[in-house]
Amino acid sequence: MRVTIFGASGLLGQALMREWHGDVVTGISSRDADIRDGRRVEMLVKEHRPNWIVLAAAYADVDGCESHPDLAFAVNRDGALNVARAAKMAGARLLFLSSDYVFDGRKTAPYAINDARNPQSVYGRTKAEAEIKLLELLPNCCIVRTSWLFGLGGKCFPDTILKLAVARPSLDVVDDQRGCPTYAVDLARAIIELGRKNAEGIVHVTNTGDCTWFEFAEEIVRSAGFNTAVRPVSSAVMARPAPRPAYSVLSPASLQEFGHTMPSWRDALRRYLDERLN
Ligand SMILES: NC(=O)c1ccc[n+]([C@@H]2O[C@H](COP(=O)([O-])OP(=O)(O)OC[C@H]3O[C@@H](n4cnc5c(N)ncnc54)[C@H](OP(=O)(O)O)[C@@H]3O)[C@@H](O)[C@H]2O)c1
Repeated sequence: MRVTIFGASGLLGQALMREWHGDVVTGISSRDADIRDGRRVEMLVKEHRPNWIVLAAAYADVDGCESHPDLAFAVNRDGALNVARAAKMAGARLLFLSSDYVFDGRKTAPYAINDARNPQSVYGRTKAEAEIKLLELLPNCCIVRTSWLFGLGGKCFPDTILKLAVARPSLDVVDDQRGCPTYAVDLARAIIELGRKNAEGIVHVTNTGDCTWFEFAEEIVRSAGFNTAVRPVSSAVMARPAPRPAYSVLSPASLQEFGHTMPSWRDALRRYLDERLN
């Protein structure tokens, strides 16, 4: 199988490049192609003739998207469409990365794949619109929604908490947003399996279990052996440009249909910390 990964320099892209063995894998970074440039994308896809394209490239800064909506839609929706058109032309399968932020967070039980999209942020809208347009253009594409991604080789929540825990006696962390942390390595392994199983449609892929950002931070600080106090605060106190869903736990049922079970987020965090701290 030939695989082309757009966004190979990102958190997930790096994990995919490290984890994907046994197939011919080409990584494309933003230096090789800006996905807003449809002709360049098409040229690279023609050159590499992939069976699968994984589209992990995105403007993934949720607050940045809120301040720069034109850029956000140009990359996350229109750029994704450029990649989808190139995939269609080349007869390649497409796996697109989407987000829990397509939901409004008003549910109190895990979101199923067919629950209604109702994004509250610009970032969420870019992903929701991309999903709809990609499914129109390529009905057999695979859309993987994930959440709260962390891993080596980039900015992520555990990395930020570890840096702050060294520098400060206490940390205030929001305790009214609940979701599923997801280790890039585990997500990459699930994506590889979905590719090999020729997956179609929407699939939710996160580590199992859920927590608030406060609970996640407490576990990070405790597991890393710091004495830093972690204090729960509300989102109103820690106001940020983009609204976040209060609850965005994704149901694992769609992934289980492919016979794949993800490790718990606590187990994933332990493995991340082992690599990060040793
Ligand atoms: N991070 C999360 O918590 C989270 C949650 C849910 C879903 N997701 C989705 O999962 C996917 C992977 O996320 P991630 O955390 O790995 O993202 P990331 O670390 O921010 O990486 C994004 C990648 O996209 C590339 N990129 C950005 N703009 C581009 C453009 N115009 N043209 C081509 N490439 C461009 C970046 O290249 P450079 O490095 O060269 O800039 C980088 O390789 C994204 O689709 C994201 O929206 C992420």
